[in-house]
Amino acid sequence: MCGIIGYVGTRDAAPILLEGLRRLEYRGYDSAGVAIQNGAGLQVLKLAGRVHVLKERLGHQPLHGTSGIAHTRWATHGAPTGRNAHPHRDCTGDIALVHNGIIENADALRAALERQGHRFTTETDTETLAHLIEDAAGATLEDRVIAALAHVEGTYGLAVMSAAQPGKIVVARQGSPVLLGIGENEFFVASDASAVLEYTRSVVYLDDGDIAVLTPTEYHVIDSDSHVQLREVDDVTWDLAAIELGGYPHFMLKEIMEQPDTVRATLRGRLLFEHGTARLNGLNLPPEACAEIRRIVVVACGTSWHSGLVGRHVIEDLTGIPVQVEYASEYRYRRQLALPGTLTIAISQSGETADTLEAMRAARAAGSRVLGIVNVVGSTIAREADGGIYLHAGPEIGVASTKAFTSQIVALVMLGLYLGRQRGLDEEQGREIVCRLAQLPQLVSRTLALEPQVKALAERYADKPNFLYLGRGVNFPVALEGALKLKEISYIHAEGYPAAEMKHGPIALIDANMPVVFVAPKDDVYQKVVSNMQEVKARGGRIIAFTSEGNGDLSALADQQLRVPATLPLLSPVLTSIPLQLLAYHIAVLRGCDVDRPRNLAKSVTVE
Ligand code: F6R
Repeated sequence: MCGIIGYVGTRDAAPILLEGLRRLEYRGYDSAGVAIQNGAGLQVLKLAGRVHVLKERLGHQPLHGTSGIAHTRWATHGAPTGRNAHPHRDCTGDIALVHNGIIENADALRAALERQGHRFTTETDTETLAHLIEDAAGATLEDRVIAALAHVEGTYGLAVMSAAQPGKIVVARQGSPVLLGIGENEFFVASDASAVLEYTRSVVYLDDGDIAVLTPTEYHVIDSDSHVQLREVDDVTWDLAAIELGGYPHFMLKEIMEQPDTVRATLRGRLLFEHGTARLNGLNLPPEACAEIRRIVVVACGTSWHSGLVGRHVIEDLTGIPVQVEYASEYRYRRQLALPGTLTIAISQSGETADTLEAMRAARAAGSRVLGIVNVVGSTIAREADGGIYLHAGPEIGVASTKAFTSQIVALVMLGLYLGRQRGLDEEQGREIVCRLAQLPQLVSRTLALEPQVKALAERYADKPNFLYLGRGVNFPVALEGALKLKEISYIHAEGYPAAEMKHGPIALIDANMPVVFVAPKDDVYQKVVSNMQEVKARGGRIIAFTSEGNGDLSALADQQLRVPATLPLLSPVLTSIPLQLLAYHIAVLRGCDVDRPRNLAKSVTVE
């Protein structure tokens, strides 16, 4: 969702804000704007389009000053126009603010403010905040922000400036991520650390309800009663190279190619060869608590939901504990069943997805212990969970999730192994899984070597309007994920199905124009999948088979076949998903799509 950045210090603010916006652009990219404080008040420039358009305009129309705020938008309320872009102003021009989140009672607030004579110039929910602060009583800007927010329902990560109090930014957080960057005589506010990393590694993650006040000489955090809150200063451990393209044309390709390293990073220090188990220190799940688990509920969205489906197979197989996988957005509004012995696992790359966070909170309110499987260190889900597993996959910038997916599967396998070993999984079997996990980075490298062949496939099929992806067992979620990757970045309609379900409907779609992608590595259901291929072949469909080494030749059935290395069936999704990521990537590039910024999407979905 939207990205915000602010700066107070001694340097020229505009270049710092623009660079920050460029790094936050994956969060939203339909319009952008900046407000700079100079001796003469607050000057605002905002327009529809990408950050580079704003940068070009500022090249002709420079704004100078040593403090400012800026925003890159993913529209929720109001079309993505220059007028609706942030920063938003009040009637007097004293206030400028940028906001990430949704003001849920905006319509009622707007009606009341208009009755009092306020003139609105945009269709956004955010503009109500500017007018509320305009009217709010208080000696300082922070007092007025606190007073205004008392009327607000919804979520916000907010940065506010006032022309009357130069060199000050007031920040507020409720439900949308915000952090402070701590420099020497300069301070930053940003939606995430990538925007400030060039200037400082020291960050303060704000909690819900926090208000922060930044000036060039100091910062402090207070609550809504103006009581000072102590917040730790954390160190960002990854470096700038992790958020640069490093010679790749797109972040998505870079992140696909990084997977040998990211899988290795997820495994690092966690495999106990001798005991055939995993060491997961952050779980906070002592053996007594493991013994009490009667069921596991996974809550997640999108790609993370798909990894949850893989996790269901793995965990049920290794532990015998029933696992249910829920769309977080549905689960959070269902009646929560307070069943004793429930362990809830929230899976999220960003750790900020609003639905996942709320589903996790609902589960906790119903008495469940909650774990997070999260990539972004310090994110809200990671901080609110009782324990969990960090992926350590490094920043994922491409909007389509790739390396997080494979790392999530690896984390879920380690969790299954750890729980399984507590509950009767035999040591020998445990050792076998540990050894096979340790081989994965190398197998991922070998899988990536298929890229030229996958690219050739993409060239052959890039003009097709529809695709069907089929798989069974632990590779059915891989079929879902392959279809999601294709549709989100190439805008081709694609559906994933369990291969045997095809004959209950989708088989009607099959003709010579329908490529059918089969995910068919060596496992217990391989022969069944081959039968499903025969059904497609009999109806003239085009078959692309992703199979594995050690399986028989499929050339009698498949138009094309590619082989990933063989591994344990439970680990195969880590390998089979990779050619599907590459296929989606190359098809999207061939179709001229903006791979890293697909239309209508944003990386971190912090609104419900
Ligand atoms: C797809 C994709 C999304 C996310 C989903 C959840 O490529 O990236 O479907 O997986 O929005 O995001 P996280 O994992 O950050 O909770």
